Amino acid sequence: MSNAPRTTVIRSSGSYVPPQVVTNEMISRIMDTTDEWIVPRTGIRERRFCAPGVGPAELAEHAARRALEKAGLAPSDIGLVVFATMTPDHYFPGSGGLLAARLGLTTTPALDIRMQCAGFLSGLQTADAFIRSGAFDRVLLVGAEVHSGLMPWPESVWDVMLGRSPGPCDAYWYERATGMRDRAVLFGDGAGAMVLEANDSGDGRGFLGIVLKTDGNHWDKLYVPGGGCKSRPYFTPAMFESLGTIPIVEGRQVFRLASLLMPEAVREVLAASGHALEELHLLLMHQANLRINESVQRVLGLPDEKVFNNIQKYGNTTAATLPLVYDEAVEAGRIGPGALVGFTALGAGLHWGAALARI
Ligand code: ACO
Repeated sequence: MSNAPRTTVIRSSGSYVPPQVVTNEMISRIMDTTDEWIVPRTGIRERRFCAPGVGPAELAEHAARRALEKAGLAPSDIGLVVFATMTPDHYFPGSGGLLAARLGLTTTPALDIRMQCAGFLSGLQTADAFIRSGAFDRVLLVGAEVHSGLMPWPESVWDVMLGRSPGPCDAYWYERATGMRDRAVLFGDGAGAMVLEANDSGDGRGFLGIVLKTDGNHWDKLYVPGGGCKSRPYFTPAMFESLGTIPIVEGRQVFRLASLLMPEAVREVLAASGHALEELHLLLMHQANLRINESVQRVLGLPDEKVFNNIQKYGNTTAATLPLVYDEAVEAGRIGPGALVGFTALGAGLHWGAALARI
């Protein structure tokens, strides 16, 4: 073993999305929206939604097994499971333990992270710190979301959307769904995973820096008002009736903050690790809105070949976006050995930051 400082490398990645494609046209069957409104403002053309009864731990298991298979590893080779989600299977316990159990692990510790769209970035920082400290040699990090569970309409409305019923949509639900159209069109379900492991070779590969920030003063720019133990009881029928269980999004504020803070974080992590922007091979951004990412790309002056987006197919999958977009970029041949890859995200909290890795 060399005396080089230990780093954390991405050994492999895997991703999984449920098979049900929901196009913008399908969404327009149950609310007043159009492909013509959605595409120019968000870039989103379609997303995936799970069948009822499928939770994030199940999606995560598929993504994790794909990552393990690519690495030629068994679940028992993992020292720690880290699970990032804002749409957990249950209020508690967290989905990390559920995933570990699905993988057949009965004593491996499993940690849950709830930092929404910055959850995977926080997971990278956590895994990196654990690995460099020597506490664990290998970490399975997963981001998985089932946003379809947040959609409040009954199965008969889903049937109209998915074409299982000719419609028309129930007028009461059409009006209610239209009232949340600014959010309902943005999200999708999916999962992504990475196997992260120790590198003691001194070959320069691994995470070179990670910055993560929080400003809780912006908590109400993006949050769910109904539910939570500040209320007694923590859920009431009235909350559901008033759509209090649906996230509130101050879309324009989030757009402004993301366009400002993500480029700043990228510049900061590059400077802290002694690298210039020009050295970056690829920047992978959280996929909340294609227009945000185009703005970040413009502010940083990056050419098209240095960014990669897949929000067009999946919408915003919150904690799953970074591993999902990383895995697809690898599969598309956009990330090779030795590449300098940046990651950046911003989400509810507010939490935001960036990471830099030599692959
Ligand atoms: N279809 C048709 N019309 C719509 C839709 C829709 N899906 N959504 C909103 N509209 C209408 C509104 O009703 C409003 O109409 P009005 O002027 O007659 O009242 C008009 O369009 C403008 O609505 P805004 O909500 O102000 O639309 P905006 O231009 O801000 O775009 C959007 C909304 C796309 C959400 C944008 O603000 C955005 O991308 N924000 C950042 C992304 C974001 O917040 N994501 C959620 C959080 S994700 C995360 O990663 C943390």
